[in-house]
Parts: sequence; structure tokens; C-alpha cells
Amino acid sequence: MAILGIDQISYGASDLDACRRFFLDWGLTLAQDGSAELLFECQNGCQVRVADPAQSALPPAFEDGPTLREVVWGVQDETDLARLRKLLSAQSGFVDEGARLGCTDPNGMAIRFQLNAKREVKLVGTRSNTWDRKDRIDQAATIYERAEPIEVGHVVFFVNDLAACEAFYASLGFVTSDRYPGRGAFMRCAERGGHHDLFLLQTPQAQRGLNHVAFTVRDIHEVFGGGLHVSRCGWPTQLGPGRHPISSAYFWYFRCPAGGLIEYYADEDQLTEAWKARAFEPGPTMFAEWAIDGGIDGHSRRQKGVVAEGKFLTEKRS
Ligand SMILES: [Fe+2]
Repeated sequence: MAILGIDQISYGASDLDACRRFFLDWGLTLAQDGSAELLFECQNGCQVRVADPAQSALPPAFEDGPTLREVVWGVQDETDLARLRKLLSAQSGFVDEGARLGCTDPNGMAIRFQLNAKREVKLVGTRSNTWDRKDRIDQAATIYERAEPIEVGHVVFFVNDLAACEAFYASLGFVTSDRYPGRGAFMRCAERGGHHDLFLLQTPQAQRGLNHVAFTVRDIHEVFGGGLHVSRCGWPTQLGPGRHPISSAYFWYFRCPAGGLIEYYADEDQLTEAWKARAFEPGPTMFAEWAIDGGIDGHSRRQKGVVAEGKFLTEKRS
């Protein structure tokens, strides 16, 4: 039994021109360009579809405005599909198109399962030298001009019934990696893998919605290079760069014209059956060990609003 990860996401958004510019700046490849729908691909074939709700058939929205409408998960083989067909057939919104089947999750998001359509890609991240491990010898570390996201690594939703959502995904084989008891559940789609593929968050208002979609990049330097490029293109940072204490990942969040926030991330914890889920009290210091509010200016390479002068930091300002 194996759910392998996210194969495709679909946004419903009406400003396709802004979305086209944004996702090209973000580093995706435009595979299909239509007047009602855009289809982008990440490096491993993971797809991002953006469709105009007025012109395309999309599952219902769980909030107003541009937002995510569907998440397609890839599974290993036909046995997985058969198992999920059985589990989901009684769920609301059940659909079975043979190669792709699914339902509506308890939060109102359309989820689908299909045989994994992503490719194995051979990519090399930048090696690090630490006190105990010298992994980069006679080689300068990479500086990225922009990011080329590998795949959609996780999605994050505001939910109105955390217990029901967590139980639903657990019944499909998802495992909880860490929790904010009563407030949030970080879930991975298999015992072995990255810290979370799905994060469910219930705020006191208990409103449903998209919080963010996160794209995996090779290493921390690609988070910086990608974020600087997206900033130079004029897209606004929400928060970042920074680092999450939970999952240990480096992040940079932007606002996304297709809905919610969007994130570059790298270096998340890799977990196995041996991992014990932890419990945390939510708060700003649990969200970020450190973070830059408003981002870094892509030209000056300084925090937004700080004017860089001189060629060296040690030069005295006149
Ligand atoms: Fe994230």
C-alpha cells in the first residue's frame, strides 16, 4: 500500500494572465496554454493546472475567490487503486473514472488518486561542509539565478473539523508526523518520507480555505535564488526567507494570484516508522525559528527597505 505524493493540483482562478506570468516566474514550464486553462509542469512531471471557473469544469470551491479545487495523489500500483476504490466508494462526491478515482474530503476539497505519473529525476543539491562532514571539496557552492521547482511537496488547508479530516486521511494511510493538539495535524502520505505532504489547520474561526501550496526545491540556496528572482519580478513576499522549527525546512512564502500563499522549501526532515509524533503549542516561535518579514530585495540583496551603499559592508556611509 503506497500513496507516493502529489501528482497534480488544480486551481480555479479567473486572472489567467497574472497566473501565467506568476507560474513562469516561479520556475514552472508551461505545457498547455489555452484561453480557459493553463497547464504547468514541475521538473518531475508534477502538474499545476489553473482553470477559469467561468469557462472550465472544476470541482466546487470551498471558499470564495481564487483557490485550490482538486488534489490528485499518485499511488504505486493497481492494488492501491483497488483498496482506495473500496474505501472511498461510500464517501460523498465519489467518482470512478477507472484510471482516476476519488471523492470529496470532509473539508470539501476534491481529492483523486491515480497511478503515479511523476518521473524519477536525477538532480544534485549543493553539498554542505559541516564540522564533522566535509562533503564539498575543491568546489564552490551553487548560486541559483532562479528556482526550478521539482514538484508540489505539500498542501495546507484551513479546516472546520480537524478531528474528522485527520481521521479521514489516516483511514487512507496517511500518518501524523506532529500535532498542534486540537489545532493542527502535519501528515505524511506514507510512513517513510518527508515530514508532511498535508497540513490541516483549524483556527478559532474554523473557516475552510487554502493556506498554501509548497514546492520542493533542491537546497536552501535554491530557496534563496528562487525567492530573489520572484522578488525581482515584482511579486510580493508574505514571509521569508526563514526556517520552520517543525519539519526543519527553510522556506520563503509569496502571495499567489491563483489563491492562497505559495512556498519554496528545502531540507525538511525525512521520517520513518521510528518517528514519534510530537505535540506543540502553536505560536510565532513554533512557526519560524527565524524569518524575514517582507522578504529580501532581489537587486540590493538586503532586507526590503534597507538601502545598500558602497562595495563592502565595512565602507563608511558619507
Ligand atoms: Fe509549507
